[in-house]
Amino acid sequence: MRILRTKDYDAMSAAAARLIAAQITLKPNCVLGLATGSSPVGAYQNLIAWNKAGELDFSAVRSVNLDEYAGLNPDHDQSYAYFMRHNLFDHVNIDLANTNVPSGVSGDEECQRYDQLIQDFGGIDLQLLGLGVNGHIGFNEPDDHFSLGTHKVTLTESTRQANKRFFASLDEVPTHAYTMGVRDILQARRVVMVASGTNKAQAIKDAFFGPVTPQVPASILQYHKDFILVADEEALSLV
Ligand code: GLP
Repeated sequence: MRILRTKDYDAMSAAAARLIAAQITLKPNCVLGLATGSSPVGAYQNLIAWNKAGELDFSAVRSVNLDEYAGLNPDHDQSYAYFMRHNLFDHVNIDLANTNVPSGVSGDEECQRYDQLIQDFGGIDLQLLGLGVNGHIGFNEPDDHFSLGTHKVTLTESTRQANKRFFASLDEVPTHAYTMGVRDILQARRVVMVASGTNKAQAIKDAFFGPVTPQVPASILQYHKDFILVADEEALSLV
């Protein structure tokens, strides 16, 4: 694993965006695994600026998102499908037909369909990840085993608390989600994680400077052969 240490959120965002832009430049029809949450938003803003400046072409890019809340349809303003349109897809020349977010309303058959889709794409070239405060990736929550493919999860109380800032109240935060599994993520040819702020420092320490354990799902990335952690000084303050 490699660590890119940056001064702050903006520098982290620029560094992560450069890695994604390099991937698109090297392989214009690459498959990007994309993430939601506040961590990747700055990277997306850089990508949008470079696309608008004519320096980065998304026309052949294909994308698969990590996860979606169960029960939210793509037009719900807290769905991850909506988030992706709002924060990236609507602002670059990507073909919406080439973008994919797991459906939160199609039932459990969606899991198999989504894994098949990733397989049909020939796998993911670059997977972007955020990090949950409890060490989760996508919505792979702490557990007694690592998950494999796309599956439905029960969100932990800490994740629902962390994400309630986006909803009117805790009651409105969904209790379940669909997420790519750890195997899907590990099979990506390159994995880039963005992490910023002191509230991620303990999770960074546990995930990358402690034992590999399903209780800290991100820790499995220690085994990935091309994993890059892009983190700012605050996120790295405990290591
Ligand atoms: C959610 C998402 C994760 C994301 C995490 C951290 O739970 N499912 O993919 O990494 O939040 O979000 P943030 O970047 O806002 O801290």
